[in-house]
Amino acid sequence: MRGIVAALLLTSAGGFATRRTLLRLSVQSRGVPDSAAPPAPSLRSDVASFKVMDVVESAQALEAEGHRVYHLEVGQPSTGAPAAVKRAAARALDTEKLGYTQSKGIPELREAIIKHYYEVGGIPEGSLDPERLVITTGSSGGFLLAFAACFDKDDHVAVGSTCYPCYRNILESMDCHPAIIQLNKEFKLTATQLRAEVERRKDAGLPPLKGVIQSSPSNPTGSTLTPAEVEEMCAFCAAEGMWFLSDEIYHGINFGEQAASALRFPQYADNVMVLNSFSKYFSMTGWRLGWMVLPEGLVDSVYRLQQNMFINAPTLSQLAAVECFSEESIDELEGHVARYTENREIVMSTLERLEIPISPCNGAFYVYADLGDLAGDVAQGLGAEVLCETFLREKKVAITPGTDFEDPASGMGFKRIRFSFPGATEDVREAMKRFEEWWPSWLERCA
Ligand SMILES: Cc1ncc(COP(=O)(O)O)c(C=O)c1O
Repeated sequence: MRGIVAALLLTSAGGFATRRTLLRLSVQSRGVPDSAAPPAPSLRSDVASFKVMDVVESAQALEAEGHRVYHLEVGQPSTGAPAAVKRAAARALDTEKLGYTQSKGIPELREAIIKHYYEVGGIPEGSLDPERLVITTGSSGGFLLAFAACFDKDDHVAVGSTCYPCYRNILESMDCHPAIIQLNKEFKLTATQLRAEVERRKDAGLPPLKGVIQSSPSNPTGSTLTPAEVEEMCAFCAAEGMWFLSDEIYHGINFGEQAASALRFPQYADNVMVLNSFSKYFSMTGWRLGWMVLPEGLVDSVYRLQQNMFINAPTLSQLAAVECFSEESIDELEGHVARYTENREIVMSTLERLEIPISPCNGAFYVYADLGDLAGDVAQGLGAEVLCETFLREKKVAITPGTDFEDPASGMGFKRIRFSFPGATEDVREAMKRFEEWWPSWLERCA
């Protein structure tokens, strides 16, 4: 086989027809012992999978068998986009060409976001140059742009010991090193923890941190930095010459004081990048739309990366999302937050009755429970993953083990579980009733 290929190569200087012939021959040769194996997948693609997606699959399998399953596993609103957004999308489908847009996004949407920051975000009026704002393909698209713009191969980037797992996974796939920092007792990564790590690294002669990324409110804990803590993070990163990547995707979903955007402190703007999204507060996960507010020094890099990687965020979503900020839409979205508030109370009060310690949950739509030894011993076939599988099988309620969110080396993922509560209140109530009924049977298994 290799001989035929070599002969063809020699006789035909690689013309189109000959390449096709070669391709056919190589396809025909599959299974023939002397054919070359295709290359292996890249090392960078060897990232951890999402356990929550395994839970989703198991839940769907049960649904396919005809069971009613209660979904407290996935972090997405059970509602769709605001009605005004859907109407705008329908209009745009009829009237617009839906071609490419400017890479940084349509001006109307960028301006609407900036106006929203001034009106409800407590951002000093006039402090945001629209050129610093880029519309992205969800905040996930934003992470790729952000990491590519901020970090080089072998850079060390701080993440919390409990965090949104894609930070670690994407950083690793870009050949960066996540530096895992233990959260404080309130499940927060503040400037205090960061300073201790920076100093430890200096003392130990370890490479410095190039930046830090975290979400506040946090997935999975709901813990939220106070405005003073956000300011301290900004100031510390500026003093140390680090990037502060502030993931603000859950802003707008707060139970108590609104989370403070890092943009409230424009004096540190050169070191701070904000990532946000229409997925959570705006209830538009599938529209794949987000935005970044960039430090001046990264604008040009991110524009060029966006042009090459994505060209632009989805045009239909951009046109429709302008309607997110209308009074009608905000009223509708605030209605969702009122529902999350009620749901949170149901989840928290159930876990409190069961005396299960939980994270503070000041924002987002998650309660993170720390079961400690009550999760059971992994060596004995127990632990959070088995707990979630068993609860789903026996009570038809899907929740997520902590293994997605925890530093894999810590083992904490097997002791913690996440309840996601953006669903319908009656579903959350029924799910938690089932958990309360079922919990004693789990404790018996662990005894
Ligand atoms: C903290 C955090 N950041 C970012 C994302 C990604 O969101 P998207 O790409 O839909 O904007 C999620 C999704 O759950 C998240 O929890």
